Amino acid sequence: MGIHGAQRAMQLYPLENAAVQRALDDLLAMTVSLLQLEGMIEVRLTSDVVFINQTRLRLGLDNFAAFSGFVSLMRNTGIGVLRIETGVTRSEWQNWFRLLAALPDAEDPLERLDLLRKRMQDAEITCLSVDEGAAEQEEGDEADEALERAKRTYAHGVSVARDVVAGVRMGRTPSVRRLKRAVQLIVDQVLENELSITGLTTLREYDEYTFTHSVNVCIFAVALGRRLGLDRRQLYDLGLAGLMHDIGKSRIDIEIINKTSSLDDQEWRRMQAHPWLGTLTLFKMREGEQLPYRAILAAHEHHMKIDLSGYPRPIRPRRLSLFSRLVAVADGYDAATTRRSYQTEPLEPESVLREMWMNASRGYDLTLVKALINMLGVYPVGSLVVLDTFEVAVVAGLAPDPEQLNRPLVRIVFDAFGGLVPPPGQLVDLSVARPDGSFARSIVKVTSPDRYGITVSDYFI
Ligand SMILES: [Fe+2]
Ligand SMILES: [Fe+2]
Repeated sequence: MGIHGAQRAMQLYPLENAAVQRALDDLLAMTVSLLQLEGMIEVRLTSDVVFINQTRLRLGLDNFAAFSGFVSLMRNTGIGVLRIETGVTRSEWQNWFRLLAALPDAEDPLERLDLLRKRMQDAEITCLSVDEGAAEQEEGDEADEALERAKRTYAHGVSVARDVVAGVRMGRTPSVRRLKRAVQLIVDQVLENELSITGLTTLREYDEYTFTHSVNVCIFAVALGRRLGLDRRQLYDLGLAGLMHDIGKSRIDIEIINKTSSLDDQEWRRMQAHPWLGTLTLFKMREGEQLPYRAILAAHEHHMKIDLSGYPRPIRPRRLSLFSRLVAVADGYDAATTRRSYQTEPLEPESVLREMWMNASRGYDLTLVKALINMLGVYPVGSLVVLDTFEVAVVAGLAPDPEQLNRPLVRIVFDAFGGLVPPPGQLVDLSVARPDGSFARSIVKVTSPDRYGITVSDYFI
């Protein structure tokens, strides 16, 4: 374990010592090559297990000393998560160890962590960051933990999106680094436990529409991209494209954005400027910091439609980039299933998917729509359905049998007599047949949670 080697060497010898320098060289080489592969490194400590990104470190005799040393180093300092980003330098590592060594003892590990963070900021260490993460968390139910993590990641994404929009409105250039970090967390979460984070997209709070929409598009695009076989680094860029696709809207009058009645011609023209306004905004943000070109392209192309009949009208024939087509599908799905104002009724996921698939004038890439339908199921997680038993249930998981997509896992919300079943409700697998081959329950139709006054997310996880 390079970190521990370097730390121990620095404790034993003065910094100029060759052993220290060698240990730092090793650590730097190791992190740089891992960063090239993975884009970001996250070292995470949960109870006694260390994860590096999604890989659990195995504890063997050969690495026991390094391993336990590292665990106690992180625990003593209150570090639950150490993130290492591309661009990390030797001197950053060196300064970081210096700060660690100089950290005074404190009763509360969180206090130490805060102090460390502050000193890291003062020392301009930007490619390393620390968090308390899960270290102080009680060991609990694994599913609960996954959900909690998903919620934190989602909420963080929303708050970053909110800050970016506010920043652009005030003429500031947002930090690409912070954005990237939020996107990386979302991508990691999708890779680790897709259901828990895609489920959160059904929360769709109206007041936060602009920000939750960006985060949702990011999540759907990444989950889709993953199914197409994109690797982690590509997913990071794709997630950024999703999160930033509507950034141009933050340069349009807030009255137009928030208007609940239909837009007049002039307002509509202004609204249609958001793709190129977004392109300009992102190009400005690009200066100095790395913002992938294909993320900028997605902001520009996401309303063009596959036959180029959308906006902005391209001058020459062009083929929309894969990222733009993916973002367009994620965008179309989320926008149609979300309520944008208290006056409008959101459409049911099932009918939105059908419309995207059947109506060619919507201009989506049909292969990607098909992938989306496969991903969400005929009845996406979070849909509220009426069963032939007169029970009402929330779709809680994809159909276990891929041959029977119309028979997902559900949780009963209302019993056959209309009585509310408190969360989490009974879990039922609709694909399980009786001995005679008939089914105990089947879905009759999709219904709206608003009609029943329930919050579906209370049930499906
Ligand atoms: Fe848009
Ligand atoms: Fe959008």
